[in-house]
Amino acid sequence: MVIEVKYLFCSYFCAMQILDGKIVSQAVKDAIKIKTAALKNAGKKTPHLAAILIGNNGASETYVASKVKSCEEVGFKSSLIRLPDNLDEVALVTAIEQLNSDSDVDGILVQLPLPKHISEATIINLIHPDKDVDGFHPMSVGKMVQGLPTFIPATPYGILLMLQHYNIETKGKHAVVIGRSNIVGRPMSILLSRNAYPGNCTVTICHSHTKNLKELCLQADIIVAALGIPGFLKADMVKENAVVIDVGITRVPDDSKKSGFAIKGDVDFINVAPNCSYITPVPGGVGLMTIAALLMNTYNACEQKNIGPN
Ligand code: GUN
Repeated sequence: MVIEVKYLFCSYFCAMQILDGKIVSQAVKDAIKIKTAALKNAGKKTPHLAAILIGNNGASETYVASKVKSCEEVGFKSSLIRLPDNLDEVALVTAIEQLNSDSDVDGILVQLPLPKHISEATIINLIHPDKDVDGFHPMSVGKMVQGLPTFIPATPYGILLMLQHYNIETKGKHAVVIGRSNIVGRPMSILLSRNAYPGNCTVTICHSHTKNLKELCLQADIIVAALGIPGFLKADMVKENAVVIDVGITRVPDDSKKSGFAIKGDVDFINVAPNCSYITPVPGGVGLMTIAALLMNTYNACEQKNIGPN
């Protein structure tokens, strides 16, 4: 409902265009579905994603459920391995080693964040780089930095697919990325600076110690807000005709919702949108693209096997 009001408001009063994650992710999924059916018809293996979910974190449960459901939609196999919050690291290591050596599994993802007693770095390092569909393994990150073919982390990859779909010019633009996480901000900054399309931006990466954030944002042609603070990016921080990409997906209490919470982005959408050339809504924007990009990575992981030496 809220999103419909936002769309209505902006379609009447702004020159701005919504970057619609629903439309673009569906186009990506449709293409994957066709390619997956072709693999099956050719007698080749079906792409198979294995997801490990630890504990009962509500947001993680929702994300993993969407990932599994999307696998079904495009004709992939999926396995969901649920492990308790209090598991020891050895049990998780064993689960990953089993998936690494299972030739039917093409992609492995361990939903983050992990319980505090387990080292994320250790776990990410264990996933075989050929199955690292999250693109978090140091080998994948290194290749991405060097511009070599590899798995690209799903959220930045989804954003690139979105920019590409709407044919948004990025060459020579100043992109400001707010947030330096390994999952979104840092890879996004690297990808936007690559000599490629989308890319060739001059990139500024901002974080909690950045002093002149507002000034930097006001210089930006493209802003990627990925800091996890609802409504952080205000209208007076965005220059006319900027492209605004909202990565925020924070759950905030909302008694009017059946679930008891609403999903809020990092951008003050209603006030920022009228000044933009393009903007992503929340929900209905980047979140859906993240899943589509994960499916692309999983398909490619499988195809690497299909096209490898016989
Ligand atoms: N937690 C938040 N985003 C992600 C993601 O893209 N992959 C994984 N594995 N965990 C996440």
